[in-house]
Amino acid sequence: MVDRPVVFSGMQPTGVLHLGNLLGALRPWVLEQHQFQNFFCIVDLHALSQPHDPQELADKTRQVAALYIASGIDPEVSTLLVQSHLHEHTDLAWILGCVTPVGWLERMTQFKDKAHRQDAERIGTGLFTYPVLMAADILLYRTNFVPVGEDQRQHLELTRNIAVRFNRLFGATFVIPEPRIGRMGAGGRVMALDDPETKMSKSAEGETGRIALLDPPARIRSKLMRAKTDSGSAVDVAHAGAGVANLLDIYRGLTSCTPEQLASEFDGDGYGKLKGKIADAVISTLTPIQERYRELMADPTHIDAILAKGATRAREVAGATMAEVRQRVGLLPTAPLG
Ligand code: TRP
Repeated sequence: MVDRPVVFSGMQPTGVLHLGNLLGALRPWVLEQHQFQNFFCIVDLHALSQPHDPQELADKTRQVAALYIASGIDPEVSTLLVQSHLHEHTDLAWILGCVTPVGWLERMTQFKDKAHRQDAERIGTGLFTYPVLMAADILLYRTNFVPVGEDQRQHLELTRNIAVRFNRLFGATFVIPEPRIGRMGAGGRVMALDDPETKMSKSAEGETGRIALLDPPARIRSKLMRAKTDSGSAVDVAHAGAGVANLLDIYRGLTSCTPEQLASEFDGDGYGKLKGKIADAVISTLTPIQERYRELMADPTHIDAILAKGATRAREVAGATMAEVRQRVGLLPTAPLG
């Protein structure tokens, strides 16, 4: 048990969790949770890197925890933690920041994109050092695999570079983590319903492009009915355009059916019929998740207790890594507690 490889991943408690998060992240995490030693983190400190509403952040942190559990993450099997509950994350981020060349951070495309949209006098330094904190998250747990979306590839590469550099400067300390990009499960990437060329987004203003995990059935159906399709009129699975292909991918992600089964199920259907069937499948997947979510949210102290237990378990690993890191870089040991 002890030597199962370590998986670490995280999500920011911002925006609206949607079908793409379920099929591309939560579901694959759940399916493989018994094969690994898992740490699933809610990265609330990362959420501070953009302007935010404090009450909303607090509420969302609990909500995301409840959605993790409602989606099948078993807190007895996987460690569920809130990033800010362990000071080790920020402690390590400072130390790693001191060995990360500024030039490496300046090359991060996500920073450039986000910074580009804002006035330089208003962008917080945290947005710039965001990837260093992410590296700390991962390296603290001696992580072997990091399941993330394609958009995080560059951050993972940076994490590896930081680990290699630290190991070279101070001696072998960190495990070099490997990304697992979209490989964990079918339906890895869900596109926006209203624009199937772009990813379904947590933060897009308009909500017609996404199916939120908490959308009521009638809304799920109406969003799917309005989803963009191809110019033809009947489904041809082998030659589907982006819109229809996305709906078919969603169905595959929900049911794990084969391409042959897809063709026999949908070929020749009109688009209205296709959308109706997809809506049925989405609703029957989300209904039990929503019920479980409501039960959990009815008792916030229970959620907080699960998170406190997760923090205690996480601290065993993170604390040991930090003791070693401190010694490697020449910080005196902290006095033992109590
Ligand atoms: N940056 C990630 C995202 O936006 C979230 C994240 C923070 C993360 N720390 C992490 C993901 C560590 C994986 C591992 O998706």
